[in-house]
Amino acid sequence: MKIFLDTANIEHIRHGVRLGVVTGVTTNPSIVSREGKIDYQKLVQKICSIVPGPVSTEVLSQDVQGMVAEAREIAKWAQNIVVKIPASLEGVEATSVLAGENIKVNFTLCFTLNQALLGAAAGATFVSPFVGRLDDIGEDGMEVVADIVEYLDYYQLPAQVIAASIRHPQHCLTAAKIGAHIATVPYEVLLQMIRHPLTDIGIERFRNDWKKIMAREELL
Ligand code: G3P
Repeated sequence: MKIFLDTANIEHIRHGVRLGVVTGVTTNPSIVSREGKIDYQKLVQKICSIVPGPVSTEVLSQDVQGMVAEAREIAKWAQNIVVKIPASLEGVEATSVLAGENIKVNFTLCFTLNQALLGAAAGATFVSPFVGRLDDIGEDGMEVVADIVEYLDYYQLPAQVIAASIRHPQHCLTAAKIGAHIATVPYEVLLQMIRHPLTDIGIERFRNDWKKIMAREELL
């Protein structure tokens, strides 16, 4: 499973890339707004220059023509750009037009297998089920991801599944076990993925034992 960062924060993205594990980035208008007063296009282009893989950014229009026009412009910003199109009826049509022009689409705000199937059938490169938001309303977000992974594979639809709206490391673990192609994670969750108290205790114990050996050698 590939790891993408779900952020527009340049320092966090640089760190993720330095770690050698972050191969893509996803943003949305809420995420971008957290970066304060910025030039949207410049920020996205900067992210595209740092990240080796796909960088998703979202259209704001809701009608087909508007989404397609916006996406065509956004697609010119960088070679690794992916346009996020919402899982509405208009979004399906826009995805179909854009896929026909070889513009990569991340079919976003997916909450059901039906939505993902339509996005994938329309030619989306990625489909993004929002796990945390489903959990928030008492549904099982990961069950939806598992269904999407299973049936895109069964019907040989090439879209890759991005487990999105990830809230904690357990989500990453489950996404990996059920075969999601990608998990897009907030920076804090990326940091949590590596942490374990026994690792910290182990490192400390090894250091202390080594110091004992050094002290003994000094006495000899
Ligand atoms: O990738 C989708 C994500 O940004 C949504 O996350 O936490 O707002 O549900 P959240």
